Amino acid sequence: MLSIIKSMSLKGLEGYIIDVQVDVSSGLPEWEIVGLPDASIKESKERVRTAIKNSGYELFSRRVLINLAPADIRKEGSYLDLPIAIGVLFSSKLIKNINKTLENTAFVGELSLNGKINKVNGILPLCIEAKRLGIKNIIIPKGNLKETTILKGIKVLGADNLNEVIEYLYGKVKLKEKRCTWEEISKKQNKYAIDFMDVKGQENVKRALEICAAGGHNILLIGSPGSGKTMLAQRLITIIPDLNLEESLETTKIHSIAGTLKNDENLIITRPFRSPHHTITISSLVGGGKVPKPGEISLAHNGVLFLDEIAEFDKNTLEVLREPLEDKKITISRLNQTLTYPCNFMLVASMNPCPCGYYGCSYKKCTCNQNDIKKYMNKLSGPFLDRIDIQIEVQRVSYDKLDANEGESSSKIKERVSKARKIQELRYKKENIFTNAELNPNQIEKYCKINEESNQLLKIAYQKLSLSTRAHNKILKIARTIADLEGVKNIEKRHIAEAIQYRSLDKKYSE
Ligand SMILES: Nc1ncnc2c1ncn2[C@@H]1O[C@H](COP(=O)(O)OP(=O)(O)OP(=O)(O)O)[C@@H](O)[C@H]1O
Ligand SMILES: [Mg+2]
Ligand SMILES: [Zn+2]
Repeated sequence: MLSIIKSMSLKGLEGYIIDVQVDVSSGLPEWEIVGLPDASIKESKERVRTAIKNSGYELFSRRVLINLAPADIRKEGSYLDLPIAIGVLFSSKLIKNINKTLENTAFVGELSLNGKINKVNGILPLCIEAKRLGIKNIIIPKGNLKETTILKGIKVLGADNLNEVIEYLYGKVKLKEKRCTWEEISKKQNKYAIDFMDVKGQENVKRALEICAAGGHNILLIGSPGSGKTMLAQRLITIIPDLNLEESLETTKIHSIAGTLKNDENLIITRPFRSPHHTITISSLVGGGKVPKPGEISLAHNGVLFLDEIAEFDKNTLEVLREPLEDKKITISRLNQTLTYPCNFMLVASMNPCPCGYYGCSYKKCTCNQNDIKKYMNKLSGPFLDRIDIQIEVQRVSYDKLDANEGESSSKIKERVSKARKIQELRYKKENIFTNAELNPNQIEKYCKINEESNQLLKIAYQKLSLSTRAHNKILKIARTIADLEGVKNIEKRHIAEAIQYRSLDKKYSE
């Protein structure tokens, strides 16, 4: 007898309904699974067979054929165990006359040999996509239930073991549900252990980071060892406005697939801060692998990617970042499929100015020769540097600032940032972008108009610093953000003047 049980699969972040078709007939006792299953699914027959037996059902010797449709989508992972087991039980008439219709019900879960349903990765995106595709009920591992509390419009039920699912189908037990609102969850948002208050002095760097947060710009901090680069960079995340529900779901989707949700975390409610080490491989950074997983740049989606000591990263690794920095998404090609993951992150990078670390330092002499310095800077290619909006030098904090009072708190700065973001949101309502950093050249012309006086100033900088056109555009975007922080409509000369200051590399290395 043939039975069809619904399940779900993901390709990147996009979901598909999988029909698990099971036919059990008399014949030689063998199991066959067709429809592009990978090795982990092929192994499921042993798990399913044993789990069924250990749940108290006798499968006698039968021929079992399982087809996973549509056949052209590659299926990976062990989460099809549960629907396969249910299908086998139906087809062998070990369960029948249930009092539930399964038309709009999907099953997802890995089975243990004893019939227990194990947690799987990627449940939130599966459930979001299931809802989008019209599934009304989805039965998932109980251990994953807290990841889906925020979802509306789909009934998500958690089951502990195969027998519990069978009893549910007969209407003998109710499966567990869990619900929570965004208001309840987001109350705990953005409690960071660090704060800008801890940083003495450094007003100009703090200002640059505030501009970054306000306009969504990337930043590179250059300074000698111990000047506070890492300390400052780590605090950028504390002044970016809170995640909204949509962003939270997007980010959680990615972490759910990557399996990077922490134990008690059901939804990511604080912006991610990722700081991969400079020895990271390309595939860990941008995503990939045999079973393709999102990389650090996608794990940083809607948050901050911090590349500390960026000059130590492999040049090829950095080059791969160029495209995602521009497109805010990454496409990973594999043998028989391509996947796309979003990666809209803010990049913060830090580096020393030269091999010895003291080029341009106010209190210690640099011992490098010009060639060494050039070579060191060349570790970052021109096109890569061009993609960084703000470059700023970090000098050691002066002695008299060391015992100064506490600086401004992150929450105070965040208030100003939020105001500036609101202005941008309103201005770009029709453009499908949110921040100044996202402006394309046409939009720059439209929204970053400057007067003749400002134009003259920009022209001088353009020639003197031999700026690229991309750098020129970046100055306009940053000036736009500075004006937004001030709450003024037109970009003024002072905004342009300040924005030019943030191209310190162009200046420093053009001398
Ligand atoms: N402005 C400051 N206010 C308070 N503490 C500071 C400040 N600057 C530096 N420090 C202290 O100095 C330590 C070193 O700073 P940090 O690690 O951020 O420097 P760095 O520029 O990243 O150095 P390196 O190039 O060696 O990585 C910090 O942990 C902090 O304790
Ligand atoms: Mg450091
Ligand atoms: Zn040096």
